[in-house]
Amino acid sequence: MTISRDGQRRIYIDHAATTPPDPLVIEAMLPYLTQYWQNPSSIYVEAQATRQAIDQSRNKIADLIGAQPSEIIFTSGGTESNTLALRGVIAASQLSDKHIVSSATEHHAILDTLEQIELENLANISIIEVDKLGQVNPGEVKKAITNDTVLVTIMHANNEVGTINDIAQIAHEIREVNPNTLFHTDAVQSMAHLGANTKELDVDLLTFTGHKMYGPRGAGCLYVRNGTPLQAQIVGGGQEERRRAGTEDTAAIVGLAKALELTIDRRESDIAHEQKLQNLLLSKLPMYIPFSGATGPLNNSERLPGHASFVIGFVEGESILVALDLAGFAASSGSACTTGSIEPSHVLLGMGIPEDLARGSLRFSFGRNNSEEDVNDLLEILPVIVQKLRSLSPLNNSSLPHGWEEWLGN
Ligand SMILES: Cc1ncc(COP(=O)(O)O)c(C=O)c1O
Repeated sequence: MTISRDGQRRIYIDHAATTPPDPLVIEAMLPYLTQYWQNPSSIYVEAQATRQAIDQSRNKIADLIGAQPSEIIFTSGGTESNTLALRGVIAASQLSDKHIVSSATEHHAILDTLEQIELENLANISIIEVDKLGQVNPGEVKKAITNDTVLVTIMHANNEVGTINDIAQIAHEIREVNPNTLFHTDAVQSMAHLGANTKELDVDLLTFTGHKMYGPRGAGCLYVRNGTPLQAQIVGGGQEERRRAGTEDTAAIVGLAKALELTIDRRESDIAHEQKLQNLLLSKLPMYIPFSGATGPLNNSERLPGHASFVIGFVEGESILVALDLAGFAASSGSACTTGSIEPSHVLLGMGIPEDLARGSLRFSFGRNNSEEDVNDLLEILPVIVQKLRSLSPLNNSSLPHGWEEWLGN
């Protein structure tokens, strides 16, 4: 809980959208904003200090994700890393017919890029459906692969419903059917909670970003296994071994490495704390609000820690969020990137949730600074908000619409 400038109590439960920068991350970054701000490509002594900081950050990150320093490309974040992975691999491929396999519930940074790639006739795309919990079946990935499949891209964990995919098993299926197919995973949501050992996951490319793990925004990374053909998508300078041009943001890179180090150090206690809050909300909310249900897996091993998502019938998720905001709670209806859009979430629709029910979606994502009191306060206020909105709504809630029942309760 924090207090706003006008004295209002604020409870932030939207850590899947972004996280507050850790004070230790800011402390690590500051010297590279105030003293060592010089261009790392320059020759003088201060610039050498910035170059050294970038090298050290690269070594640290490589070490923490089971990689070599040469396999780390610094970018501006998850969106850019995903774009570089997809477009860079397709541009470097020598095959005449190119094919990519992905899933229906990927982040728009993946899905929209794939759509563009197809429109530009660069590759054909196959999209795999997910199950009711939002999980990708590794066997379905295997079935979709052909001789032309250059790349498979499947997210590690979903940003809206927290579902974790079995990346190592998917890699195993891919390797069995076509050893030339490359495998990329978007680990933006999972990195803070699950970490990533690129060798254990057996991926060729992996995306993560600083701002989902108490690090800075505008700092991201693409891991690219040595030997993977990749064509730069931003050119003009020799930075990042000619794979991503542009003067490096030393402070952001230092912050990214520090954030990763700290999340790994604190992972065990963070997970225990976040799962306690998440489980409390997942179990209680559907009991407190009629016609509501949890979305995604309820099992802790299949769901991101701290993540709790729901559908609430006969009410718009956006209206609930506005009322929650007025009451001091910052939450989300799904991904922050689609907030403001009137379309129901493609993730919920992909899981088979009826469109009218999917409009009432809510996502709460807890972090280090949340407490049990936050959950209890939310459980007190939310049923009142929902009841009030329903009483004002023209929607008829006297009978359950077709296809809703299996999504309600927990
Ligand atoms: C799964 C996933 N991929 C990619 C992104 C985009 O990352 P960034 O905001 O760093 O560009 C997000 C952000 O919400 C995300 O949740």
